[in-house]
Amino acid sequence: MVKLAPKPAGEGSTSLGNTGRPYLQQIQKTYDHNCASSYTEKIETLDDQFSYAPNRQHYWSEPEQSILYGTPFYEQTTTDQKLALNHLYWSFFYTSTAAAEVQTAMFNQVTAGVFNALGGYSTIHQELELETEQEKSHIHAFSKINQATTTSILGPKVFAGLLQRRSSVPPPQPRLNQAIQKALRVATKTMFKAHRTVYSPYLKDLESRSSVIPAPSSGFYRGKSTVSQSLMRFFILSWGSSPFLASQYYNVRYMANLLLKNREHRIFRYCRKLQQQQSFVPAPTAVSYYHLLDESFHTTISQLIGSEFYREFPKPTAYEKWVANLSIYLVQYNALQGLSAGMPGLYLKDDQFFMEFLYNLLQQPLFGCSAEDALHWLEQSFCHEHEGLHVSALWHRRLLNEHRRFFDKFDYLWPVNREMQVMASGGNIGQVLIQNRKNLQRFQHAVT
Ligand SMILES: [Fe+2]
Ligand SMILES: [Fe+2]
Repeated sequence: MVKLAPKPAGEGSTSLGNTGRPYLQQIQKTYDHNCASSYTEKIETLDDQFSYAPNRQHYWSEPEQSILYGTPFYEQTTTDQKLALNHLYWSFFYTSTAAAEVQTAMFNQVTAGVFNALGGYSTIHQELELETEQEKSHIHAFSKINQATTTSILGPKVFAGLLQRRSSVPPPQPRLNQAIQKALRVATKTMFKAHRTVYSPYLKDLESRSSVIPAPSSGFYRGKSTVSQSLMRFFILSWGSSPFLASQYYNVRYMANLLLKNREHRIFRYCRKLQQQQSFVPAPTAVSYYHLLDESFHTTISQLIGSEFYREFPKPTAYEKWVANLSIYLVQYNALQGLSAGMPGLYLKDDQFFMEFLYNLLQQPLFGCSAEDALHWLEQSFCHEHEGLHVSALWHRRLLNEHRRFFDKFDYLWPVNREMQVMASGGNIGQVLIQNRKNLQRFQHAVT
């Protein structure tokens, strides 16, 4: 990434310092520090030099961050299998992180366009442009390491095949999507008309290039159906048309930042431990380490824009409050409302898709299970208490508390969002086991 030096005030940049509003000074300071850092460049070097072989015999994080950690299956695996489960865990999470960062890169540009169009906030625009470039380097590194790792462990394209969702949802209909987008556009324009509308030039450009704007469908907001994609477009149109909603997008981004940190900070600490012991640091561990440092700038910016900067704009209308609440509610629902018994740190319900993923993984030559054995281990992992579930519940509780501390100060949030009620409802191990028994029964029925 070619990084430009920060522009001093008076050279095309409006400095946010000395405005008497501390959050603007903090944004300026974060931008200056981000420009001066070289974490992205370190990730790029690790990306360039990566090969799986030198990292094969090392854990990339503590064993807790392994697929099926703490289950009876995990306990009886060999050392090589344990290492593979640790490496595949890294790949699983960074596959979803890369997808989330594709979404982030787009939403950053849509909302940066709004701030830029308002005038006077060019530092914020430059910071968001810099972040977008950083995300592109991150995505490239994750994708390259994931591909080399999963190919070495399982063979070419096997992992991608395991992650393929065999969905009963019909694929999106292009003509229907066009009609829905037109209706959404009329609706959002009407709702913002009476208020101060600021139209993101980036969004305008997207709309002029195609009758349906892109809606990246995997990542923090999930779902490939027509309804899910239309909802995604609704948010993009809303975030790109209102200063309040553009800044509120950063609350949703902050949720993604916290989730990432919840996993990545453990790898960061593991890396520190290796450095202190002067032990070998595997390249993916180092990538996580520098990524956390790079993302700490993004997290600070999310926090400042989402919880302070929005005060620059007129008070939100009832409609804007509704859209802001809906986006937070949906993130709770889509990304945080469960505990996985097979993957500590994954806060989704163990649905049929995830059961199928593990069922097929266990039948790969590396693990050598028959279909019958694989079902036996799924039953042991999903339907009984084990150490992995307790680890996951503990991490989930910490993440819940961090969210509650952040959202507590927003008076316009619905209680379900301020108290993170959807997320909280997913953290009970007893309930998880009841639900898993039902899901496993359906899954067994489907595969036998
Ligand atoms: Fe990133
Ligand atoms: Fe980021």
